[in-house]
Amino acid sequence: MNEKVAALLKDQVNKEFYSAYLYLAFSNYYYGVSLDGFGHWFEVQAREEQEHAMKILKYLQDNNEKVTLEAIAAPNVDFSDHKAPLTAALKHEQYVTSLINAIYREARQCDDFRTCQFLDWFIAEQGEEEKNTSDLIAKFELFGSDTKGLYLLNAELNGRADTSATAEA
Ligand code: FEO
Repeated sequence: MNEKVAALLKDQVNKEFYSAYLYLAFSNYYYGVSLDGFGHWFEVQAREEQEHAMKILKYLQDNNEKVTLEAIAAPNVDFSDHKAPLTAALKHEQYVTSLINAIYREARQCDDFRTCQFLDWFIAEQGEEEKNTSDLIAKFELFGSDTKGLYLLNAELNGRADTSATAEA
């Protein structure tokens, strides 16, 4: 594998685990203020991010790349209000999209078609993740300022299905 592509993918393993840690911190914040539906939603999101990290790690292993697992940075959990984690999540997803795009660009430049094909799934997934987070912000803006609306939105988010392989049975 091209050295730069491999280095970017290795770094992305850490970035995806950081995403999991970040969303776990958001989940923890919401559970702490009794918004358990929001807590659940981000807990599911954290599990998905772990799966993203594992997909990339496995891909590197399958291509005989040695990966060193680096330290995961502590997430910032200093929120001004209940909407702040949502806007932080969207900003983070846009950042992750830019990282995936950068790896794709590099892989394409050195004719690494296998990595491009591998990344296709992530390109589609980023579109979905940005949309899910934007939708959540829109719902919060519509209903979140009213206590009854917030109660109902919280109940709706509690129903988010966890389809990850690591979901509790
Ligand atoms: Fe793995 Fe939400 O990007």
